[in-house]
Amino acid sequence: MIIAPSILSGDFARLGEEAKRMERCGADWLHLDVMDGNFVPNITFGAPVIAAMRMCTQLFFDVHLMIDRPERYLADFIKAGADGITLHAEAMEQAAILPALRQIKAANVMPALSVKPATPIDAVLPYMEDVGMILVMTVEPGFGGQSFMRDMLPKIARLKQAIAQTGKGIHLQVDGGMNAKTIGCAARAGANVFVAGSAVFAAADAASAMEELRSRAMDG
Ligand code: DX5
Ligand code: ZN
Repeated sequence: MIIAPSILSGDFARLGEEAKRMERCGADWLHLDVMDGNFVPNITFGAPVIAAMRMCTQLFFDVHLMIDRPERYLADFIKAGADGITLHAEAMEQAAILPALRQIKAANVMPALSVKPATPIDAVLPYMEDVGMILVMTVEPGFGGQSFMRDMLPKIARLKQAIAQTGKGIHLQVDGGMNAKTIGCAARAGANVFVAGSAVFAAADAASAMEELRSRAMDG
């Protein structure tokens, strides 16, 4: 079980401090939401900001690219210190997906592929040999603080099955609306990596919030 707090809900004036705080509070990974105002209706930060944060923590940087044609910027995010890079299948020409995943892998970074709520899992199934993780969005990407879409549970379960069939240890990540009430059913459906923005950052005590998420995920 991997808990990945999303810095999107952190204090943007103190990103380095926030990253360090998450590390101290027991985060397994740090989730970094890159948004371009095109693929999603919001803009956050890019590779230079991630490179600056890289100086502040050893945490695994799980970089979630919500940008059109992300293949244009992979070298930048790799250089900035990403440990994992997640692409959206909907953001790219189909022909660009495999070369992009391979470029990420060749740099010793974990390649991942994501689907928005309305995108069927067929968009990722052809790439199972080339990913270390699949991300199922459980909200419409763009903003923190939205409600978990329960109707994504069957999709998570189907992907879990497909992953089991590969016999490879591909991570299954969920992102959006995770909290102490929703994480158990996502875990039961087969997810093992949980992004949580507001549930961690809005909590008075981030360490105990993450501890509770972890234990609820394990109880699944
Ligand atoms: C949404 C982002 C999420 C977001 C989740 O587009 O991909 O990572 O930070 O925030 P919460 O956990 O508040 O739903
Ligand atoms: Zn995200």
